[in-house]
Amino acid sequence: MRIGVLTGGGDCPGLNAVIRAVVRKGAGIYGHEFVGFRDGWRGPLENTTMPLGISDVRGILPRGGTILGSSRTNPFKVDGGVDRITENLHSLGVDALIAIGGEDTLGVATKLAERGVHVVGVPKTIDNDLNATDYTFGFDTAVNIAMEAIDRLHTTAESHHRALIVEVMGRHAGWIALHAGMAGGANVILIPEFPFSVERVCAYVESRFQAHYAPIIVVAEGATPDGGENAIIEKGLDAFGHARLGGIGEWLAGEIEKRTGKEARTTVLGHIQRGGTPTAFDRMLATRFGLQAIDAASESDWGKMVALRGTDIVRVPLADATTELKLVRPELYAEAEVFFG
Ligand code: F6P
Repeated sequence: MRIGVLTGGGDCPGLNAVIRAVVRKGAGIYGHEFVGFRDGWRGPLENTTMPLGISDVRGILPRGGTILGSSRTNPFKVDGGVDRITENLHSLGVDALIAIGGEDTLGVATKLAERGVHVVGVPKTIDNDLNATDYTFGFDTAVNIAMEAIDRLHTTAESHHRALIVEVMGRHAGWIALHAGMAGGANVILIPEFPFSVERVCAYVESRFQAHYAPIIVVAEGATPDGGENAIIEKGLDAFGHARLGGIGEWLAGEIEKRTGKEARTTVLGHIQRGGTPTAFDRMLATRFGLQAIDAASESDWGKMVALRGTDIVRVPLADATTELKLVRPELYAEAEVFFG
């Protein structure tokens, strides 16, 4: 079989580990040939490819990013986009695709599978918000980066008696904020699932100072104050209609200073959370996903996504992963709240 591989959406640590596993097992054990599509769905749309043989994937396991490149191209937003993809696959002699991506990339894969394209999906996102899988690779790395930042901020916050805010990624789901905040001993964690009261945050800040400690507040970029989205700075929309977020941390620092009289500063971790080498957990998960994805393709089990359930890798319909996001449940957030203030 001739199989195309692409990586779409925001990159994350572990993408190269998936590509390596797919090609090593696919070429080495099954005897398939591979075509690398560049920059997500733009590759099959514009016919931009790169060679993807065993020698091309040597040494990439620990490397962050993706050797294939990525983009947020949405072929369903391009005139005749889907037809162009099917024609290009045909002209390249590509029988099937392995699409590695999050909600948007796999949403496109789901719709293409419904139109008869042979696709297997692999879930990725540092946000960990894809349904049908317990974890996505990239998340553990992002959480560790954010946790280390929180550890460092604790000591400087204490020295200067400041409230320090850490803004982390998480557009719709607060998984990174929750895990990094709990692991780093944050005093308040604010996530998109539960709008927050600025008054309560300020009360936590004050009680923390009264106990002679300096508060650390972790806020997900998609978190909003009660009754408004006024804190979010919108910087345009991507091809999937998502706003570019950012600014909630800075806004909150202003409110804390105004209401408590204490100095408050913000650190925005941004793309640092997505870059660099994956943790052992993410390398392992990404590798196992890659191995199982090529098994599914070899068995012509199309329209499926590989997923982690407990310690097993299973196959689920692509649609199960993309119709609804996996959000933080109230019981989990309540566990974090025990440590607020
Ligand atoms: O999709 C994952 C994500 O990490 C979101 O949490 C975040 O909003 C987005 O990527 C930002 O991506 P970019 O800056 O590449 O548009």
